[in-house]
Amino acid sequence: MATNERIRLGVLISGAGTNLQAIIDAIERGELKAEIAIVISNKANAPGLERASRHGLPTAVIDHRRFARREDFDAELVRVLKEHDVELVVCAGFMRILTHVLLSAFPNRVMNIHPSLLPAFTGIDAQRAAVEYGVRLAGCTVHFVTEKVDEGPIIIQAAVPVYPDDTEQTLRERILEQEHRIYPQAIALFQQGRLEIVGRKVRIKDFPISQKTVCLVNPPIDE
Ligand code: GAR
Repeated sequence: MATNERIRLGVLISGAGTNLQAIIDAIERGELKAEIAIVISNKANAPGLERASRHGLPTAVIDHRRFARREDFDAELVRVLKEHDVELVVCAGFMRILTHVLLSAFPNRVMNIHPSLLPAFTGIDAQRAAVEYGVRLAGCTVHFVTEKVDEGPIIIQAAVPVYPDDTEQTLRERILEQEHRIYPQAIALFQQGRLEIVGRKVRIKDFPISQKTVCLVNPPIDE
């Protein structure tokens, strides 16, 4: 990927589209050299479609229920993504499992965000699972998508504390705030040609190591 060119994104959504909004905002602020070529939802009533339209972005609805097999649904996704010359597929709250049909059409070019510190709490309702398990730290992960759900090579993670009175909803909001920070950053790293997949790991060129990165301890300890 040439570092000076705007990368063409295909964003897949199923719901609110707040991550889509964070990506749009990062592009509009000039922090992410990208262009959203198409927003595709598998749900016609996804509020994220309105966000896209408000910003003049092309949208498409592909209802998964029209297809007998996951592979057929994916083939239609591929057709529309290719029609829009998409270079990177960005799953942003897209609640469908992708198959080899889509993944082989975009090898190492599909990203997802998941609301947990993977490999913990894969699958749906990760925030509820974290509250119920009683973990002290939760968070979110951006990773490349492979055929194994929520298992692909990890690009970036953010951790947040879990408080005793947290509900699924309060934790969801705290995590979401961090999702909106890390997803545009992961896409920017890709656009800059700085991500290389080596085995199950992602190598980041010029990995930014900051002295300011804090160690999160929860509950806090006196030092
Ligand atoms: C986000 O929390 C995202 O991490 C999650 O769905 C939400 C979508 O919010 N994704 C998954 O759980 C995928 N397994 P959004 O539509 O407002 O971006």
